[in-house]
Amino acid sequence: MLQEKIDKAPSPPKVRSSSPANAGKDWASYVVPQCWYSFAEEDHAVWDLLFARQVELLGTRVVSPFLDGIDLLRLSHPGVPDVEGLNAILTPRTGWRTVAVPGLVPDQIFFAMLAERVFPVGNFIRTREQLDYLEAPDCFHDMFGHIPMLAHHDYAEMTRHVGELGLAAIGGDQGYKAARLYWHSVEFGLAREKDELKILGAGLASSFGEAHFSLESDAVERLPFSVERALNTPYKHDAFQPRYLVSESLESTIGQVLALTPERLLAL
Ligand SMILES: [Fe+2]
Repeated sequence: MLQEKIDKAPSPPKVRSSSPANAGKDWASYVVPQCWYSFAEEDHAVWDLLFARQVELLGTRVVSPFLDGIDLLRLSHPGVPDVEGLNAILTPRTGWRTVAVPGLVPDQIFFAMLAERVFPVGNFIRTREQLDYLEAPDCFHDMFGHIPMLAHHDYAEMTRHVGELGLAAIGGDQGYKAARLYWHSVEFGLAREKDELKILGAGLASSFGEAHFSLESDAVERLPFSVERALNTPYKHDAFQPRYLVSESLESTIGQVLALTPERLLAL
């Protein structure tokens, strides 16, 4: 749940009142109880509708570890998942855990969470009237889109590393680079798998409209993924992407991101 904002050219250096490392320690204050019992029957019905619709839409158009994660985490169990149930499976497997938050968290807080293997998920779900339009990521985007891949050991480690890179980038007044890297891999990345183009990013995996669009539209650019290109490619936060970065494989994305040091990120 990266704060979605207009991606723009670097802003002038700002004076910081505290180091990113210190500011990141405040992330726990953004966590709220999920209050799973307060989800209404209608909320669970909306989850079930979204889940069934998205699984059918995706089919095998998503990288296979995503589908493995759905099974491992038993996300097909009816109703909104409770974070404790998810964590009971996820944490022993990869060390990650989910926590509930009431909405978007600031980028620095978000990256600090990732760096500690914590993924924030919204404590709310869209209404039936808003199935395809969201003002802020809800628990369907967060849990269905993001959490399955966090059951994959190497991808989970890559995501933790992105958190560290994010804190370093913000500390160097280059937070936009971390946002772009995250956006073009974790949210809207594509990857080849056995010569087929597949969805990698959570923003695509959880989107009814953009999932097929990203793979099939003739109106977009698809460029080879590299961390250097990701760091230098702006994105749209409020519309379908005009371009997608395509990795030659999931393993290639993971390897490239893990090899990126904070120093190199700041220099590229
Ligand atoms: Fe997301």
